[in-house]
Amino acid sequence: MVCIRMATSADLIQMQSTNLWCLPENYQLKYYLYHILSWPQLLFVAEDNGGKIVGYVLAKMEEDDTQPKHGHITSLAVLRSHRKRGIATLLMTQTQQHMRQIFKAEYVSLHVRKSNQAAFHLYNETLKYEVNDVEKGYYADGEDAYDMRCVFEENLSEEGKKDRKKKLEEAMAKLKVDDGEGKTAETSN
Ligand SMILES: CC(C)(COP(=O)(O)OP(=O)(O)OC[C@H]1O[C@@H](n2cnc3c(N)ncnc32)[C@H](O)[C@@H]1OP(=O)(O)O)[C@@H](O)C(=O)NCCC(=O)NCCS
Repeated sequence: MVCIRMATSADLIQMQSTNLWCLPENYQLKYYLYHILSWPQLLFVAEDNGGKIVGYVLAKMEEDDTQPKHGHITSLAVLRSHRKRGIATLLMTQTQQHMRQIFKAEYVSLHVRKSNQAAFHLYNETLKYEVNDVEKGYYADGEDAYDMRCVFEENLSEEGKKDRKKKLEEAMAKLKVDDGEGKTAETSN
């Protein structure tokens, strides 16, 4: 079994090690320390029942006063052995909840490689992030990044709320849905 909990400073070494296994974007320990000292409520880990960290999210609040208050996902990873079980979705949901509730963030942003299909699916399809911009040559190897954002529901305009509802309904229509009488119906057109 895996549990999702807030990270402590004792987890940082294992978070760094998970990052090294999973991503080419790596950070010195002092960068993890900076995050946990500044925004301890935004770092979460997934821990297996042997105490091993199998996933983490490292996040922060942006401190640019010229923009609305918003959070930023610095890094997210789940060990290959534990993927496709909903762990990243839970890690992201937890940190986003704290951004809204504790820091009153209006939205959350992140960067993702154009080629990273798994992460793009997670952000765009599962968590409803939208592409805000493309940053040419953002990564050290020259790959472009999608700059993505997810505006929290309470900060959407009426039009934005309608638009999100419509997209959600379209996505639901492609799924098999229960008609409430125990029968499942294919509603895709
Ligand atoms: C991206 C990553 C964090 C996803 O972690 P995960 O725990 O497997 O994700 P989840 O189980 O929560 O899956 C979330 C959704 O993404 C989908 N998904 C996960 N891996 C996928 C893949 N390889 N291809 C397509 N979709 C994928 C899941 O099916 C799920 O979709 P659904 O909600 O429509 O059912 C993980 O693959 C990873 O650590 N990759 C390497 C590091 C990385 O790329 N980090 C992100 C950097 S921006």
